[in-house]
Amino acid sequence: MWHCHSVSSRYSVKLRKKLDRLNQLFLESLEGVRVIRAFNKQQAESRRFGEANADYAATAMLSGRITSLLLPLINVIFGVTTAAVLGLGAHYVETGAMEVGSLVANSQYISMVLMSVMMLALVIMMFPTAYACAGRIAEVLETEATIRDGSFSLSERPLRSTVEFRHVTFAYPGAQEPILKDISFEAHPGEITAIIGGTGRGKSSILKLIPRLYDPLFGEVLIDGVNAKEYAVDDLRSLIGYVPQKNVLFSGDIASNLNFGKEDGAQQDWQAAAKIACAEEFILKKENGYHDRVAQGGTNLSGGQRQRMAIARAIMKQPEIYVFDDSFSALDMKTDQTLRKNLKAAMGDATIILVAQRVSTILDADRILVVDDGMIVGQGTHQELLKSCPLYREIAEIQLGKECV
Ligand SMILES: Nc1ncnc2c1ncn2[C@@H]1O[C@H](COP(=O)(O)OP(=O)(O)O)[C@@H](O)[C@H]1O
Ligand SMILES: [Mg+2]
Repeated sequence: MWHCHSVSSRYSVKLRKKLDRLNQLFLESLEGVRVIRAFNKQQAESRRFGEANADYAATAMLSGRITSLLLPLINVIFGVTTAAVLGLGAHYVETGAMEVGSLVANSQYISMVLMSVMMLALVIMMFPTAYACAGRIAEVLETEATIRDGSFSLSERPLRSTVEFRHVTFAYPGAQEPILKDISFEAHPGEITAIIGGTGRGKSSILKLIPRLYDPLFGEVLIDGVNAKEYAVDDLRSLIGYVPQKNVLFSGDIASNLNFGKEDGAQQDWQAAAKIACAEEFILKKENGYHDRVAQGGTNLSGGQRQRMAIARAIMKQPEIYVFDDSFSALDMKTDQTLRKNLKAAMGDATIILVAQRVSTILDADRILVVDDGMIVGQGTHQELLKSCPLYREIAEIQLGKECV
């Protein structure tokens, strides 16, 4: 019985894994349906799904066969025992050693006992699946958050609106090589700090350390003069308006998305934020204005509109620290320029840290960090970097033309 149980348990675990794969493929093909069509991959995708499905079916049948042996086995035991009791009983009744009434009672008892045994068998049959599922739930529940709260109170901060990286080295969990190596810089109130560099060099990773989406491996990230780990995570994040590279909007309307930054925001807050983010022009063109519907993921808005919505959402929060990850790339040059002008006028003492692709976006930044392979290879203003940083000069020459630089 136990041997049978462990085999069947192994199959249950396998079965869950294969069901996972099936779900994953299904989800992927639903989400990527347009890409699949555009690349004419319907056949290949359905073959991939078919294979996973067949694989699942084969395992399910095997595990079914093992457990299905149990039921007939129980039936046989049931039958044989009943026959034995009746046979033996008949013999005793014949010889007068037993009364018919006792025989009937005994056979009732026996069937009660056997009933319970059958129940037990059913439980044993279901046990492996339950065990495998419980294991998976426990895995999730027992995962400990690596980002822990500190207890430093916001009101005791020695500084305001400052971010400092001190020799920060960072690797993604499970990665072999650090993505960021010895990053040091400071961002001050009322200043714009810009980060530029090729794709995949670690720009977004630097920004993710500011709201503590990850913690550095070595070194410290100081927010307002205190190590970010010292604050409660919620407190820390309340200071920061983060616009990620991949913008996520939620289903609802424009107003509810803006109110993500400020729960009790009203019409005038939306208007002010949308104006700064240059979002007003397209919102007003909508049939229902601020109450126009936003589809799940914001798919009924263009890339540039989504970017401006995400910027407006961050502005609604009126944070002390703005963090923009490549948030201007889908905007045309003119909107990009107007938006930055608005932002500069509205930011007050806030500090802005932004990642940009275009040199024109960061010409007037107070400090530019040039990032290459997870290291800062140049730091200074546009003019200074043109002289001191060959990589920056190269980027600028390509974008602005040799004669303009
Ligand atoms: N969540 C993640 N897990 C593991 N590696 C990641 C993750 N995000 C990014 N990376 C890796 O980190 C490197 C830097 O990524 P990123 O900071 O996004 O670059 P950039 O913003 O400069 O284009 C890339 O090589 C990428 O593969
Ligand atoms: Mg990036």
